[in-house]
Amino acid sequence: MIADLRRQFLGLDEGTIRLDGPAGAQMHRSVIEAMAEHLDTANANLGGAHAASLAAEDLVTRARRRTADFLGAHPDEVGFGLNATAINFHLSRSAARDFKPGDEIVVTRLDHDAAIAPWTEVAADRGLIIRMVGTGPDSRLDMTALANALNERTRVVAFPWANNAVGTIVDATEVARLAHDAGAIAWADATHYLPHGPVNALATGVDVVIGSAYKFFGPHVGVFYARRELLEQWRPYQIGHAAHGHPAARFEPGTPPFESLAGLTAALDYIHTLGWQPIQEQEQALARRFLDGLPERWQLHGLPHIEGRTATFALTLPDTDPHDLAKTLAEQGIAVGSGDFHAPQIMNRLGLPHGALRAGFLHYNTTQEVDRLLQLLDEI
Ligand SMILES: Cc1ncc(COP(=O)(O)O)c(C=O)c1O
Repeated sequence: MIADLRRQFLGLDEGTIRLDGPAGAQMHRSVIEAMAEHLDTANANLGGAHAASLAAEDLVTRARRRTADFLGAHPDEVGFGLNATAINFHLSRSAARDFKPGDEIVVTRLDHDAAIAPWTEVAADRGLIIRMVGTGPDSRLDMTALANALNERTRVVAFPWANNAVGTIVDATEVARLAHDAGAIAWADATHYLPHGPVNALATGVDVVIGSAYKFFGPHVGVFYARRELLEQWRPYQIGHAAHGHPAARFEPGTPPFESLAGLTAALDYIHTLGWQPIQEQEQALARRFLDGLPERWQLHGLPHIEGRTATFALTLPDTDPHDLAKTLAEQGIAVGSGDFHAPQIMNRLGLPHGALRAGFLHYNTTQEVDRLLQLLDEI
């Protein structure tokens, strides 16, 4: 079964073990085919009366509908952008237009810088105050500190659905509840979490959700959900009629990346057809095998069990530069990450100035790959 599944990912060259999924997953074959087919058969812009233009319109509608299902939202509340970082900058600027000097934004030490820098930048421009919520020793978000950081000036609570360096999952429902009790917007960066499990904006009450399709087997295009009232209330950075149209499309300046939307739809069809259960069972089996076999010399940062985390593991060896370790593994045919993964706050908290080595398992990885990694970690 896993062999069949792996054949559907052309990038899974048998010569290299791909444990760099947190930096970007391999694309499903149907994604590549859908993108090529779109360009072959229906490459046109919106607004024409001819068949290819109508097909482009249809393609955007289908991508929006599929993404809405994926994020547990309504299609009017779902849009696209260059990537998660660009969307975060765009939406945060739009949201903050009416914030007052002294208003407060809460961010967390578990956030990727793509979810912090947009707020520190707008804070510098508009005199806002940033409050950083920390983590406990196990790299879980400190929910008491979060509750204490909130007050009547809090406008936004920005948090990650899961952290991309140590893998900690955040309780989005609870963050949304605390944010709403304070009258603030709950603003989630789900970029790391999206290939690992379901996100439901409406069920959790989270107001904004941002992600990037290249993390969930799709192409390089960003996705977002924002609650309809917010989309209608914010003034977008937009041109002409588009500023007054579809609630989410108001926040999609310029021509959409049609071929990427074709690929995005195919990636979501793939996940939908497979279902989350086999994806999560495989990841959990791989994670347990890895945690059981990790040689004692290696330090694992973050939760020592699969509960409450994704199968994304940050590791260090005393007195050894993670970049050198990644190079050694690359020479042995294993692709992993190294550095701070643009998550400097959690790396500082962990006292890792050179960052860590990151091995991330996705559902297309195998037990043999885990065993080979463990063998090499033992030999290094
Ligand atoms: C948690 C998280 N947020 C945001 C980003 C930035 O995403 P993008 O590359 O789509 O801008 C990443 C990328 O690695 C990420 O892991």
